[in-house]
Amino acid sequence: MIVETEVLALEGAVPQQKAESLEEPHTPDPKQLAIRYTALSKVTGKAKFAAEFTVPGQKMSYGYIVCSTIAAGKILSLDRTAAEQAPGVLAVLTYENAPRTPVPSSKPPTRRHVTLLQDPGVDYSGQPIAYIVAETLDQARYAGTLLKPRYQASTPLLHFHDRLNQARPPKQGGRQPVEEHRGDLDAALGKAAAKVDVVYTTPIQHANPMEPHATTAWWEGEKLKIYDATQAVSNGTQSLAKTLGIPIDSVHIQCPYTGGGFGSKGSQWSHVPLTAMAAKVVKRPVVCAIEREQMFGNVGARPETVQHIQLGASADGKLTGLRHDVILHTSTMEDFLEPAAYQSRYIYATEANWTNHQLVDMNLGVATFHRAPGEAPGTAALECAMDELAHELKMDPLQLRLNSYAENDQSQNKPWTSKHLREAYQQAADRFGWSKRPQQPGTIREGNLLIGYGMATAIYGANRSASQAAVRVLPNGKAIVGAASQDLGTGTYTIMAQTAADGLGLDPKQVEVLLGDSTLPKSVVSGGSQTAASLCPAITDACGQAKVKLFQMASDDPQSPLHGQPAEKLALGGGRLYLLATPGTGETIAALLTRNGNKPVDAQGSAEPSEDAKAFTAQSWGAVFAEVAVDVDTHMPQVRRIVATYDIGKLMNRKTGINQLEGGIVWGVSIALEEDTHLDENYGRFVNRNLAEYHVPVNADIGTLDVTVLDIPDTKFSPLGARGIGEIGITGAAAAVGNAIFNATGKRVRNFPITPDKLMA
Ligand code: MOS
Repeated sequence: MIVETEVLALEGAVPQQKAESLEEPHTPDPKQLAIRYTALSKVTGKAKFAAEFTVPGQKMSYGYIVCSTIAAGKILSLDRTAAEQAPGVLAVLTYENAPRTPVPSSKPPTRRHVTLLQDPGVDYSGQPIAYIVAETLDQARYAGTLLKPRYQASTPLLHFHDRLNQARPPKQGGRQPVEEHRGDLDAALGKAAAKVDVVYTTPIQHANPMEPHATTAWWEGEKLKIYDATQAVSNGTQSLAKTLGIPIDSVHIQCPYTGGGFGSKGSQWSHVPLTAMAAKVVKRPVVCAIEREQMFGNVGARPETVQHIQLGASADGKLTGLRHDVILHTSTMEDFLEPAAYQSRYIYATEANWTNHQLVDMNLGVATFHRAPGEAPGTAALECAMDELAHELKMDPLQLRLNSYAENDQSQNKPWTSKHLREAYQQAADRFGWSKRPQQPGTIREGNLLIGYGMATAIYGANRSASQAAVRVLPNGKAIVGAASQDLGTGTYTIMAQTAADGLGLDPKQVEVLLGDSTLPKSVVSGGSQTAASLCPAITDACGQAKVKLFQMASDDPQSPLHGQPAEKLALGGGRLYLLATPGTGETIAALLTRNGNKPVDAQGSAEPSEDAKAFTAQSWGAVFAEVAVDVDTHMPQVRRIVATYDIGKLMNRKTGINQLEGGIVWGVSIALEEDTHLDENYGRFVNRNLAEYHVPVNADIGTLDVTVLDIPDTKFSPLGARGIGEIGITGAAAAVGNAIFNATGKRVRNFPITPDKLMA
């Protein structure tokens, strides 16, 4: 339930940050739906991120985390004396003197395991072992070098590929069972005319948003105030309150902008409670930004995978059996399952289908959500294996997929809410010119370059959860919309404004947006591609409530031209209330409100998935086609162009929506060709902990992108008709590139990323 104070919070929220609105000379055409609220504030540097705030009247201080250099064992001694006496140092917290938390670190009170300096144990290299606060960041960092830790090291569990025989079932499942057996797999594969039996691997990957994880914390009496770089403002208060053992309403988190998250900011890591603890000790605001090197270790990672795939097809190219067994690494501290085989249960129609996930314990930082967790590495492997099967069958890979088109969800035995993948395949294939693809690898040569074409299916679940929102209609006829959501660069500000403008019959320019503040009405974590689908229906509901109040006010007001009119005869549009039958009869919202006390009208809304939706499975779909060129001498693969079409329900906003899909595809290219965290298996340290050696694509690596959407509303999923789009772009894209490289060279690389050394072999 929304309480009154939450709505009133619209006034006080985001004190140092003006609400986002379109203030630039800009004439958006609402029909184009091509506006972006945050563009000006980001380009001009006005947008402030979590480590950039000051606290009025207080002197800031800077927190620095010192990390362990062994991967397993315990700390024997840490000498605080020298560090405490170093210039500018305000506090040195270690396991010996850090404030105690109500629950030991080994028993995380929230979902994720964090390290809060409660004991001398070390579980991975890079684990926080001390937290230093000083007047400047350099002073804190220097003091960290004076601690001279002595350890008792034990042998860490590190060699993943040597220990696959130790893989075990996860202790807890995910949103689906970890294992599923449907049909007689042996029989289905036994009768197949063509088979593949292959093992694919994907490496550890680290999300590297432009903005590192960062927290600014200070206390006002017993109230904890936080600026945090997060994907979860609402859930964040709960995590922090539980971890520190304080009431949830004494935690206030603000986050007007998040500089990218990709899943890594969906959980609250050690630095957040540690910064809060340190701020209490030094009685000053503390700013802590995770260093780029520390982004590789204590704020999560995508786990390494080994994926064994068996496929069988009849001579006419219909899948008979599909088996997908995944082994992933997990941290010794916590089981985290990236469900890379889930999509294999329902992406195609099969007679028999077996999937399984197992984990191998490693002395590494906790693994976590990473854009399209499951589907990203899962489709990279499965969709290349499908290409291998098509090659065995001497069949067009698109035809193979069409032959086994899943008309329903065989795993759950449910119909889809809506599925238009056939149209997506067709549209993308036509735009790409797929009919020109030679079946025989190595056929097209341009000078020193071998050219190849590849394709893959993209798939990601459509998620939705309960959310709240509030709107305030101001006496000047403008409106404010607010919710404790967050904008990761995805466009939340923009679609909140659009949805409220739609609901109140206003121009988006007349709507200001407040988000990123935990005192606003509770909303969802921006993960699982669910923000738009969860939040926008709540905004629509709030606008509906506001409309009821405005109509009632007009009807009750003898001075209104709409006096005595029942609500069903009234409408809102162009900033006016009017009679549906004679739109000329009416008045502006401003005129009505000015006359009626010159006060705003507040309304709250909420929305949650309907019970009816449970009868269906909701998935988004897409088709990705890639053209690559591979140099015959250097073996360097180069993506020339990617064409993709998605079935994602209704498109909310062309600019922010297509941009997210493009970003996802770029990341798919990154999985295919570039990203790879290297682990030193003796010391448990990541070797390439920087953006020079951890390769991500630059513009020159991408070529041209042609992204289209079908834009067919999925009203069985939600009245809004829009499914999420944050993650589907990364799925399938890596496989499309891998398959294009095979088509160019005849070489099948099954260990991602596909680097020139592997193509040389
Ligand atoms: Mo996404 S990895 O669910 O933030």
